[in-house]
Amino acid sequence: MRSSWFHKLSLIFGPRPPRNWLLLCLVSVFLLIVLLGSSPPSAFDSASVSVRSDIYTNYRRLKEQAAGDYLELRNLVTNHVKDFDLCGKERENYVPCYNVSANLLAGFQNEEEFDRHCEIPRDQQHCLVRPPKDYKIPLTWPTCKDVIWSGNVKLTKDQFLSSGSMTKRLMLLEENQISFLSEDGMMIDGVKDYAHQIAEMIGLGSDTEFLQAGVRNVLDIGCGFGSFSAHLLSLKLMALCMAAYEPTGSQVQLALERGLPAITGNFISRQLPFPSLSYDMVHCTRCGIVWDDKEGLFLIEVDRVIRPGGYLVLTSPRSRQQGSSMDAKKGSMSTPFEEFTQKLCWNLLAQQEETFIWQKTADSQCSSSKRDNLPLCKGDDVQSYYQPLPHCVSGTASKRWIPIQKSSFGSLSSTELEVHGVNPEDFSEDMEFWRSALRNYWSLLSPLIFSDHPKRPGDEDPLPPYNMVRNVMDMSANYGGLNAAIMEAKKSVWVMNVVPISEHKTLPLILDRGFTGILHDWCEPFPTYPRTYDMLHANRLLSHLASEGCSMIDLLFEMDRILRPEGWIIISDKVGPVERARMIATQLRWEARVIDLQNGSDQRLLVCQKPFLRK
Ligand SMILES: *[C@@H]1O[C@H](CO)[C@@H](O)[C@H](O)[C@H]1NC(C)=O
Ligand SMILES: *[C@@H]1O[C@H](CO)[C@@H](O)[C@H](O)[C@H]1NC(C)=O
Repeated sequence: MRSSWFHKLSLIFGPRPPRNWLLLCLVSVFLLIVLLGSSPPSAFDSASVSVRSDIYTNYRRLKEQAAGDYLELRNLVTNHVKDFDLCGKERENYVPCYNVSANLLAGFQNEEEFDRHCEIPRDQQHCLVRPPKDYKIPLTWPTCKDVIWSGNVKLTKDQFLSSGSMTKRLMLLEENQISFLSEDGMMIDGVKDYAHQIAEMIGLGSDTEFLQAGVRNVLDIGCGFGSFSAHLLSLKLMALCMAAYEPTGSQVQLALERGLPAITGNFISRQLPFPSLSYDMVHCTRCGIVWDDKEGLFLIEVDRVIRPGGYLVLTSPRSRQQGSSMDAKKGSMSTPFEEFTQKLCWNLLAQQEETFIWQKTADSQCSSSKRDNLPLCKGDDVQSYYQPLPHCVSGTASKRWIPIQKSSFGSLSSTELEVHGVNPEDFSEDMEFWRSALRNYWSLLSPLIFSDHPKRPGDEDPLPPYNMVRNVMDMSANYGGLNAAIMEAKKSVWVMNVVPISEHKTLPLILDRGFTGILHDWCEPFPTYPRTYDMLHANRLLSHLASEGCSMIDLLFEMDRILRPEGWIIISDKVGPVERARMIATQLRWEARVIDLQNGSDQRLLVCQKPFLRK
């Protein structure tokens, strides 16, 4: 079984086949079609298939496939299909949908020009985003957490020197590297102390008790250089950094370069691409959001994504004024901020120096009298894909309204699965499938399969290079099974679970498993910087997207943009879409191999590696 994964289709060829070779193929394919048309089916398909009807479908499939390949080859030869060119230098850090001048031209104002606007036409030229001149393959985990190549991120020396906040101070420049460790370790202790302080403020003995207290998923808004998230990760929490798009000095780019989970997003006029009740804690240290702006819409949005009994932690000199501050409570004056928190039924738990912590109510009925002029949203768990910020409270009618202190993480109980409408048997079957898929994927990632020497059955499986993959984007994550299998296998990898909007119902389950995830419409670009993922995994996404009518070329270009040089792509799909993707992959200059699962199904794997192109 294992070795059959390496058995390749007969029509495999390298990324850029020479023209005369193609013509040769063309002729052989044509011959093959003629042969297949005349010979009995059993002659070419004797091994695995025994049932008559299977033979027939297999036979027809192979024939169709041969014909399809013939057509594609003819296209290749006659249309002079050539490789795509690299983009200009100005696109090195290109993130589509955030073009401020185009947004202004389209009439967006009041800061909405900084929002994500994929609906505005953009220059869709098909070119490959090139790495910066000094780009180097990132150091492997866990070294990259502390040291990154300065040529990989767009930062100027001035930007570090001017960076002031606690989480930003942790940088030192050394030749062509940026180090986040100061020699005496002082700064790192600063983050530890801070996490400890937060733990104490919510009534815990130490920050190692966060998990027991139900704090598992943290949204860190404006995460600086990610050191707080890095510390939470070391405590086995899942901390996602979210920050606005920045043309230079991006926090998101830096965090991802350090191997930490991060995503571009902001509080301007749209909802975050998460369902309600997603996070146990939302954290903001000088994240620059004016919380009592826009009639509290930002606080309402934070309330939406926090789970019952979860926390909002604000650290900023401003919070001293805007948070009630204990004195104001005694007096009669209350700030707009305080009024909002009361309307939302948040309880100010503690205040120390510049840090304030509120706890969201665990009571879904929380005094509707308090919530004057703040209605409950109609409908439950509405799909929130960059919808305008609503002036209403979400999630109170959800079956997922379970206080974090009572929710169990890790393996979900059958009652919890029921809440998500998932059959426990299907769920464990899914888990079993991903366990075996992961074993196969990992062995496929070996560079050997890209060499000129095909693996022979019985050869030892080569060991994958150590920690070459730190993050994986599961582009169509379903229940998060790949993520679960990776965690079970104790890989030091985190997974960005992306759920296509038409399948949005499974995202709450992924988040309730303690994983990180996001809604996304794959007809649009993904909100991240170029070169930020080590591996992309797309299971049945291509055939799904074909039904949505988006372009496969655009999708593969987007995958090329977000994948780092020498990163891997695993596409699993039906033979038709896989063959089409392989054609495009070769034009993108990816090393591409189609792998037949050899179990009589028409599923194929397309395993690719993006090259490190300099010119
Ligand atoms: C941004 O939009 C402006 C105006 O439409 C355009 O000239 C410019 O090329 C765009 N920039 C990018 C990087 O696409
Ligand atoms: C085998 O076939 C089934 C469907 O018949 C498919 O779902 C699966 O991906 C295939 N591969 C493996 C390794 O089981």
